[in-house]
Amino acid sequence: MAELLITGGAGFIGSHSCLMLLEAGHNLVVLDNFDNSSPESLKRVLELAGPSAADRLQVVEGDIRSAGDLERAFEAAPAGRPITAVVHFAGLKAVGESVREPLRYWDVNLCGSRQLLESMQAHGCRSLVFSSSCTVYGLPEQTPISESAAIQPINPYGHSKAAVEQLLADLAASEAGWRIARLRYFNPVGAHPSGRIGEDPRGIPNNLFPFVSQVAVGRRDCLQVFGGDWPTPDGSGIRDYIHVMDLAEGHQAALDVLLAEPPQLLSLNLGSGQGHSVLEVVRAFEVASGRSVPHTIVERRDGDAASTVADPRLAAKRLGWRTRRCLEEMCRDGWTWQQANPEGYGR
Ligand code: NAD
Ligand code: UD1
Repeated sequence: MAELLITGGAGFIGSHSCLMLLEAGHNLVVLDNFDNSSPESLKRVLELAGPSAADRLQVVEGDIRSAGDLERAFEAAPAGRPITAVVHFAGLKAVGESVREPLRYWDVNLCGSRQLLESMQAHGCRSLVFSSSCTVYGLPEQTPISESAAIQPINPYGHSKAAVEQLLADLAASEAGWRIARLRYFNPVGAHPSGRIGEDPRGIPNNLFPFVSQVAVGRRDCLQVFGGDWPTPDGSGIRDYIHVMDLAEGHQAALDVLLAEPPQLLSLNLGSGQGHSVLEVVRAFEVASGRSVPHTIVERRDGDAASTVADPRLAAKRLGWRTRRCLEEMCRDGWTWQQANPEGYGR
């Protein structure tokens, strides 16, 4: 059992991970400014975790860029039980927005991470799991993508993630004792099978899965499939979708390894190793929901690759972790959430 600080714990991936970490018996302090989430997600996490978790989750509303807010979060841990590790989800993640507002992205993602690391250092806490992304690989030269592939992001969001990865490497090299996992997620989707927590994008979704589920539920008319002429079997783009519950398990495994092993810097892909095309996702969602998902093929989207799939072997070797849930479960659980919460948390 450990005392953990979870930044961005109210968000999509953070809320599912908080639930799993509470179920594993850890004590959590969540620091979130609710910029892209609602406190309701954490209420539901507590409801799902049951009565034994009620006094093991402290929520601090605050910003990772604020030394004072971080201080409040570190101080929220129970007396005599200081924070031993941080899981750092907080950040901004929309590629298009990052192109329009690079200063904001660099500020939250890089300056926020720098401030967090300074506070960790001040508190003698040197264990960190960081949410990175396969976006750091940019347009990959080959797929499946292994961790040794070139880091060559192609947009401000990706640049800011790659910069934090570099900062973490510099820090680990500067001082003994850091235990750091840089986890490069592929395409997280789905929801907790209860349908009580899930992904709640603001406005028009940028990503495929939330768009498809909003079409299925009748919130949007038609999905635009970005490109039907990719060099793939059915002409639509291929991605490595990972169930958010598998991703949460990956975080738990990474924490266990970091806390058990000598200090180290890990860089790991979290993906399934299996690719699915846009049209396959549409069909699987139609089956799971029993609804039709009208779609039309349009021009390719700028900055897209034909196919990005993880080589997940290093994560399996280092963490003893692999994905267990298939595309059908991603669609089923995503649909359960969407149907029960057609307007998300109602932010
Ligand atoms: P999310 O937006 O649902 O969650 C991020 C959380 O961080 C939100 O609760 C938000 O309110 C909070 N936050 C944002 N700025 C903050 C700040 N300055 N101070 C405190 N809290 C702040 O996103 P998510 O999908 O859960 O992603 C979590 C992390 O994983 C992000 O760092 C993201 O870049 C990374 N990631 C996500 C994906 C994906 O497809 N969802 C893929 C790869 C990497
Ligand atoms: C996108 C981001 C990536 C980020 C990831 C997770 C881009 C170029 N990349 O990845 O940096 O890490 O989200 O947040 O934005 N698609 C459609 N119609 C849609 C939406 C998507 O056809 O309305 C297609 C895309 O062309 C792609 C696939 O669906 O082939 C998946 O798209 P998306 O969910 O946006 O994820 P990525 O592009 O992989």
